[in-house]
Amino acid sequence: MWNQRVQVNQKFFNASVTDRPIIFLMIGGEGPAEQKWVCREDYTYMKLAKQYNALVIQVEHRFFGKSYPYKNGTMGDMSTSTLRFLTSQQALEDLAYFIKNYKFNDNVAFTNPRWIVFGGSYPGSLCEWFRADPRYSSLTLGGICSSAPLLPKVDFYEYAEVMEFAFKNWSAIQKTNCDQLIREGFCQLRQNTYTDSSSDAGSLASISTCHASL
Ligand SMILES: *[C@@H]1O[C@H](CO)[C@@H](O)[C@H](O)[C@H]1NC(C)=O
Ligand SMILES: *[C@@H]1O[C@H](CO)[C@@H](O)[C@H](O)[C@H]1NC(C)=O
Ligand SMILES: *[C@@H]1O[C@H](CO)[C@@H](O)[C@H](O)[C@H]1NC(C)=O
Repeated sequence: MWNQRVQVNQKFFNASVTDRPIIFLMIGGEGPAEQKWVCREDYTYMKLAKQYNALVIQVEHRFFGKSYPYKNGTMGDMSTSTLRFLTSQQALEDLAYFIKNYKFNDNVAFTNPRWIVFGGSYPGSLCEWFRADPRYSSLTLGGICSSAPLLPKVDFYEYAEVMEFAFKNWSAIQKTNCDQLIREGFCQLRQNTYTDSSSDAGSLASISTCHASL
């Protein structure tokens, strides 16, 4: 057993006026769970939560933020033997466990809950896998899974294209050569990866300069 961080907003929700509560579950991804996802009322899904009087919950992904299955002191234990538990399959099991065991305000188990899952990007993929997998699909009524790659792809160059556009666009607007430095940095990383002697601290300096200005 380990502690998973959860964020709950019950502002739109009133358990005593429904016997079929609607619960919006925002799936956390590859970073600390940000509270804006349960607080920002201008977000579309929060507007929907208000419209449907939904309880809004975000769960943090294992191995990020404060949700570490194993700890080393106060930090997450990131040793290789532990990292084998950092998988999407485990994350889906975490979601299933959470939904099956959730008790509102720590003591009320809903009898006929209607869970809807949400996620964008990697959590979008978790969202759709959770909906599509027969082991889990009966736990939720629906899912809104955004920017969600369905199948793994070895050379996912489309992602690089979007990033390239973002860096070029930002650099043009800011009138910096950041995009060129990134291009150079990748070039040097590629060269160093293909050689036996890979330490070239000098050439990496330009990359960190760019990071600083970002
Ligand atoms: C929930 O609904 C009940 C019944 O209408 C009402 O008495 C109560 O004040 C409501 N609670 C909240 C927090 O709005
Ligand atoms: C725990 O952290 C300490 C200090 O950072 C480190 O030296 C040690 O190798 C870590 N132990 C494991 C099991 O990762
Ligand atoms: C940056 O991207 C925006 C949105 O696509 C576009 O409207 C704008 O013209 C671009 N600016 C430059 C300098 O490329």
